[in-house]
Amino acid sequence: MRKNTLLATGLLLASSLALAQTPYTEDSTFRGLGGKEGIKQITDTFLELVLADPRIKDNFADFDIPQINQRLQEQFCEYAGGPCKYTGKYRDKTMDGAGTVRDMKSVHIDLKITDAMFNALAEDLQLAMARHGVSTETSNRLIARLAPMHRDIVTAHAPLAPLQPDMGRFLATGGVSMVEGAGGGGISPWALITGYGTRDSWGGNAHFTRVQTQDYSLDTRGVAVGIADRVELSVARQDFKGDLAPLNLLRIQQDILGLKVRLAGNAVYDQDRAMPQVSMGAMYKKNKGINGLRALGVTSVRQLGAKDDRGVDYYVSATKICLEHSLLVNGTLRATKANQMGILGFGGDQGDTVKLQPEVSAAWLAHRTLAIGAEYRRKPHNLGVDPEKSYYDVFAAWFPAKQVSLTVAYANLGTITVFNPKTQKGWYLSLQAGL
Ligand code: HEM
Repeated sequence: MRKNTLLATGLLLASSLALAQTPYTEDSTFRGLGGKEGIKQITDTFLELVLADPRIKDNFADFDIPQINQRLQEQFCEYAGGPCKYTGKYRDKTMDGAGTVRDMKSVHIDLKITDAMFNALAEDLQLAMARHGVSTETSNRLIARLAPMHRDIVTAHAPLAPLQPDMGRFLATGGVSMVEGAGGGGISPWALITGYGTRDSWGGNAHFTRVQTQDYSLDTRGVAVGIADRVELSVARQDFKGDLAPLNLLRIQQDILGLKVRLAGNAVYDQDRAMPQVSMGAMYKKNKGINGLRALGVTSVRQLGAKDDRGVDYYVSATKICLEHSLLVNGTLRATKANQMGILGFGGDQGDTVKLQPEVSAAWLAHRTLAIGAEYRRKPHNLGVDPEKSYYDVFAAWFPAKQVSLTVAYANLGTITVFNPKTQKGWYLSLQAGL
């Protein structure tokens, strides 16, 4: 079973990576943009938005806007697979006669463009396409082809403003807050760094999540910050309760401190590379004991057979966003001894060694503001009283603005204890608010 899951994880990642490599040989994107006439109208609206956008409008103050408009139309048309050629790069007046190629790097280098400026401009392009009725699929494909230009165009860092988060990353690219507090999906941490801070800034958020099954509920509250799109710190408290007599007084709390570091790749800009964004993380978990079973003399997870009431999960996550196909895929490998994430302690009478457990998530980026997907998380089985099974869920995450997201899921948590053999299924609702 474990081999199969690992194979499935590998195949899923490999196929998404292969998709990311598709050459732009057909013109469906060009047609989706409405051909040359559609591109002209989109570019007009795009430049109107850019010239009114306080984040970037000043950069265009002294330039020939009709000329930029013309070049952009050519470029969008070419990258969309249309019958055009971008001509600007052979036409540098200052270099006339020298035969020098004018590429995206030399065009932009003096403008000292930062990560946040690049994303602001790309957001304006997304908006312009949406205003002209371009489908999300087509819009994502054009953005996918332009995103790798980040390497040439972004050459500057913004001055540090430690008290002011810049919210400079694209919508939804911090994921949501997973049930242990880290940035990711609902039940699995992803390689994405939480929040919207760019490489020059930070972003933070708070979340509240409730999972309600037939007989139990799990609430998680937490805060997290992402620093320089590189490091993520999170703090969360889980509160697990029983709803059904004789466990209706049951209450177990757990505190989780999380650290994640992005090691390589960039899920948004590396659209032309197979490399996913890869991060490594750790979660220190402290189970605060069992309440509500004092009459039975049970106050600690050790009395249920757990070897410890604290533990550390280590994980590696790889996330690939493939805008060409409006897909996100994540694979996480977690080293853990935790029983039901740690709510029933760590290790037990059936085993006390760290086990490697795969987790897989896939999402369709149905709209700029909506991701719909499914997740799977395998867990170890260490406790005799806990016939632990894998977690599954299907979810929809809605991002009406960068300040807020709402995730609704239907989750299957498997059986939780031998005292109640029912498979626990139910709704998952999570609200995240950030800055
Ligand atoms: C995906 C991102 C971008 C793309 C595809 C892009 C594309 C282009 C193109 C095609 C031109 C015309 C070059 C020519 O005349 O041949 C241009 C020029 C220009 N771009 Fe960008 N650009 C991007 C990002 C940015 C950003 C973020 C800024 C500033 C906030 C910016 C500011 C300018 C300016 C001021 C010019 C005029 C430069 C000149 O004529 O010397 N661009 N860009």
